[in-house]
Amino acid sequence: MKKQLLALAAGLALSAAAFATDEIKVVVDAAKPGPVINKNIYGQFAEHLGTGIYEGIWVGPDSKIPNVRGWRKDVVGALKNLKVPLVRWPGGCFADEYHWREGIGPRNKRPVKVNTHWGGVPENNAVGTHEFFDLVEQLGAEAYVNGNLGTGSAQEMAEWLEYMTAEGKSTLADLRRKNGRDKPFRVHYFAIGNETWGCGGNMRPEYYADLYRQVATFLKTPANNRPLFIASGGNDQDTKWTEVLSKNIRWNFDAIAHHYYTFPSGKWEGKGPAVGFGEDQWISTLANTLKIEQTIVKNKAILDQNDPKKRLALYMDEWGSWYDPEPGSNPGFLVQRNTLRDALLAALHFNVFHAHADRVRMSNIAQMVNVLQAMIITTKDQLILTPTYHAFEMYTPFQDATSLPVTVQNNPTYSVAAHSMPTISATAALAKDGKLWVGLVNADATKPQELTLDLGAAVKSAKGRILTAAAMDAENSFKAPNAIKPEPFEAQAVNGKLVVKLPAKAIVVLAVER
Ligand code: AHR
Repeated sequence: MKKQLLALAAGLALSAAAFATDEIKVVVDAAKPGPVINKNIYGQFAEHLGTGIYEGIWVGPDSKIPNVRGWRKDVVGALKNLKVPLVRWPGGCFADEYHWREGIGPRNKRPVKVNTHWGGVPENNAVGTHEFFDLVEQLGAEAYVNGNLGTGSAQEMAEWLEYMTAEGKSTLADLRRKNGRDKPFRVHYFAIGNETWGCGGNMRPEYYADLYRQVATFLKTPANNRPLFIASGGNDQDTKWTEVLSKNIRWNFDAIAHHYYTFPSGKWEGKGPAVGFGEDQWISTLANTLKIEQTIVKNKAILDQNDPKKRLALYMDEWGSWYDPEPGSNPGFLVQRNTLRDALLAALHFNVFHAHADRVRMSNIAQMVNVLQAMIITTKDQLILTPTYHAFEMYTPFQDATSLPVTVQNNPTYSVAAHSMPTISATAALAKDGKLWVGLVNADATKPQELTLDLGAAVKSAKGRILTAAAMDAENSFKAPNAIKPEPFEAQAVNGKLVVKLPAKAIVVLAVER
């Protein structure tokens, strides 16, 4: 009897499993392609801040470190693998203290200033306009120049644009030629100020909107070299800037630059450490990252009202993790270590940006090298590629791919202490090479997850790579530069549906064989 009861119980369990409804299912609607994922979502930001430029990428042409006209070969080579679409320069807060005339002409004659915003260190202006364009041209990237509104003027910005873009006879174009550049530089993006609510001048949005209208009137270039003009927008969950700017600016206005940083504690004071954290700060960081979607949704709703034809773009102009500074470092240099947590944080951003690709047509991680959530960390002639670098590299197939609608059914809630978030994040897109790519994140720090991938048609298998590690704060170091790196990963089909076994705390990017 006991045996019979046991068999019955086992049978019930089996049939319950057969009809289980809690199976996690990622459904991709390949028949309904969405907007193109602008490659500029993978943009980079390089500011005159700490060793972000000097030492990190720029060593000067006389350095023993191998370089091309002053730019480090190793760093540029590694960045090329990321297919960097654009670089934003010279700031950040630095942009509103930068005067372009101090960065042209013979380098040994350029003035040395104090970088008052970042660490009070000397700024020798060795990297100026010509050097910046040399870097973007070596990278094959587009140039995003941030103009100085805070301590500059309409005249200074107008003349900088003329210097960079004038083709025929002009004293400024002749000066550019004298400084070694005959043909104009191609300026793809030009911003009027940065964080004008804060370090860029502590303005109110109404005042800035008026200033923008005035300045933008005088920013002229040849028609074939007109940059997209960018207004400095709001921060974090703010919507007022988008509201006021989109209502009041009408001309020479292509995008609003919104900034959103992730702090583990959610607070500016006592942000939290970059390494040596517990699962409470693992989840709080990733959950705070996901709140970027709320700000995008709210700001998009305002744009949809004020700009229904979707002419204006919402640029997530600065994003990334911001931790307490590395002990012993200059706090003004924003040095922080980079771990597996940062890689997942990056992938979550990508998945959110892809889902809002209709308006989010650019985003720039802060920052490219040695500062905040960097791709690359250098010391002397050595470099390490961070987990964030690997996340960017794994997601390169999504650049300019066509987004596909994705839903995650039965997505478990991942909870630790007071924090909770969806466990799985997913994205999918049809790339220019015809392949269907899927990006998956399992945010749970301890629990693997199995899911099925439903593409609406039978699939055979999927191949790609995974990024994971045993520790939440696994990182690469100069002693162990390859401690964490992408590894091959495969998923097989069962009855035409792909079964993906995601380890805990992992990113997987797969190309689906159809
Ligand atoms: O990325 C560091 C700083 O963060 C930038 O200079 C500024 O725009 C933001 O506050």
